[in-house]
Amino acid sequence: MMTNETQKVLTVSAIEDGTVIDHIQSGQALRIVRLLKLSHHPQRVSIGMNLPSSRFGLKDLIKVEGKELTPEETNQIAIFSPQTTLNIIKDYRVIKKFTVTLPEVIENILECPNPHCISNHADTNHTLYVNRVRGKIQMRCKYCDKLFTQDEFNESFAC
Ligand code: CTP
Ligand code: ZN
Repeated sequence: MMTNETQKVLTVSAIEDGTVIDHIQSGQALRIVRLLKLSHHPQRVSIGMNLPSSRFGLKDLIKVEGKELTPEETNQIAIFSPQTTLNIIKDYRVIKKFTVTLPEVIENILECPNPHCISNHADTNHTLYVNRVRGKIQMRCKYCDKLFTQDEFNESFAC
């Protein structure tokens, strides 16, 4: 009989060189694929969704072969999944491991979810201020000053 551990290895196999984006909040993997534009990546990208996790119950996971993602690129991930771990792999070994850091400002990555906001109708930058209140992420638009919850952002960044 196959153990759970064996099944996990068979589902998403180890990579030689690249980045493993681990402990993604379940349900957020495809938003992160979109955020990091991984659909344009020329090498293998493996996506696991709702994998068993001892820490979170269920997690998503993305393995990107042949690319070392930088902390700047990957900190954006924290707005959708603040506990995410980044593992840089070289010759099948984890050579660096870090947890993403929530950025204070998100510039020109996400649009304001308010359809009436001036930033969605004029040639302006998109600037959102990020805050964490009692563990929950909130974002405030620089232009319309409205406050948005994680759920509102998830909805406006569909995948
Ligand atoms: N991994 C991989 N390919 C490798 C090495 C590791 O895909 N050549 C993956 C593992 O499957 C795991 C992640 O990278 O999902 C981190 O590996 P490791 O640090 O060995 O695992 P854990 O100790 O379980 O990590 P953590 O403590 O962060 O949960
Ligand atoms: Zn706005």
